Amino acid sequence: MRISVTGCGYLGAVHAAAMAQLGHDVIGIDIDEAKIAALAVGRPPFYEPGLSDLLTESIASGRLRFTTDASQASEATVHFIAVGTPQTRDGNAADLRFVDAAVDALLPHLEPGHVVVGKSTVPVGTSAALAERIRPTGARLLWNPEFLREGYAVRDTVEPDRLVYGVETGDEASVAVLDEVYAHALEKGTPRMVTDLATAELVKVAANAYLATKISFINAMAEIAEATGADVTQLADALGYDNRIGRRFLNAGVGFGGGCLPKDIRAFTARADELGRSEALAFLKEVDAINLRRRRRVVDLATAELGGSVVGRKVAVLGVTFKPHSDDVRDSPALDVAVALKGLGANVVAADPRGVANARARHPQLEYAEETKDALRDADLVILVTEWPEYTGLDPVATRELVAQPIVIDGRNALDRDAWTAAGWRYRGMGRS
Ligand code: UGA
Repeated sequence: MRISVTGCGYLGAVHAAAMAQLGHDVIGIDIDEAKIAALAVGRPPFYEPGLSDLLTESIASGRLRFTTDASQASEATVHFIAVGTPQTRDGNAADLRFVDAAVDALLPHLEPGHVVVGKSTVPVGTSAALAERIRPTGARLLWNPEFLREGYAVRDTVEPDRLVYGVETGDEASVAVLDEVYAHALEKGTPRMVTDLATAELVKVAANAYLATKISFINAMAEIAEATGADVTQLADALGYDNRIGRRFLNAGVGFGGGCLPKDIRAFTARADELGRSEALAFLKEVDAINLRRRRRVVDLATAELGGSVVGRKVAVLGVTFKPHSDDVRDSPALDVAVALKGLGANVVAADPRGVANARARHPQLEYAEETKDALRDADLVILVTEWPEYTGLDPVATRELVAQPIVIDGRNALDRDAWTAAGWRYRGMGRS
């Protein structure tokens, strides 16, 4: 298949490279010249495990190219839209300007028989309006939400756990085209559901809303555990043995962040307001509030552990990304905690295996250590906020030698509490006595 992918961020760059590796001819398009220049020589503009090799192989095969010239989409017959839909500056709704711009740029190159495939996360109802705009060209629109996780994006793209195609009534031709694109996954028996456009859009936001709710549920239990002396990690383990509940996404800690879950639940509530169904999603405001309270909880714990004031005290913040195996610091709980402590007068030194450059660009006022030990040296308090293996694998005995005071706040409940306590540390977890 001849494929164009508009938008070469975390979603589009991986999608373009993966489609090329599967044998399709792919052109990746983006307006960001620096990003395209890097991708064109096989250099990912962000950290994603496996992407570098995938790009190099796909470019070498001659099946993957990148350009800023939108007119080159005319070489393709299947056009993926993978641009971002960030939160608007002045509200909770999704900002659709990049989706609109991508469709505007594609319109002159669309012909009867072409298929436009939306992958971006959009408010329910968006694709029906886009389909109207595309209809005069004779091309058809299909909505095919993406469920990839950062850090596992390559695997999730090549081996998705399900495929959802949202189509206009009776558009079997577009379904057949997408089946050809995803032939590799379909041959392996990947479940494929064909729905209407609205349902496909909703699957994506509902999935993220559910995951966010699950995390906030266990974090709410952490708040209760903190008030009662219960242990939220044992609670999660016990709940998780119930197959109807499951253990995944029940890790209490500093909460969820990133470019997806936080903004998606806010955009979803904004859309419910527009639809006159505010009450249906009122609980998501609570999910958001519980989540943000966990960041404050870490800051309050830090203040309490340092005797009521953090002013002038050295705090080692381990992790700035929103989760491990990513360099993404968008809405990162870890970075929020570091910034809040700095604002309170602490001498914060942050470290991260991959996220320092992005964090520094957003928060140049923070001090960053190149080496973990530089952050730890003479620290009055250590806070683990992103559970990178480099940090969860720290030796508590050797680490104790570096710090001024052996106090650790485990913001992800990821350290071995017994080992750290045995090494003489004062250990504080989240929702653990
Ligand atoms: C999320 C979804 O998991 C993907 O399915 C979806 O495709 C993607 O958003 C998207 O919309 O593009 P991602 O943002 O990469 O993926 O990250 P997750 O793995 O979902 O983690 C989100 C946040 O939740 C992280 O900050 C993580 O630390 C936190 N989390 C996760 C917890 O606090 N507790 C848990 O038990 C699990």
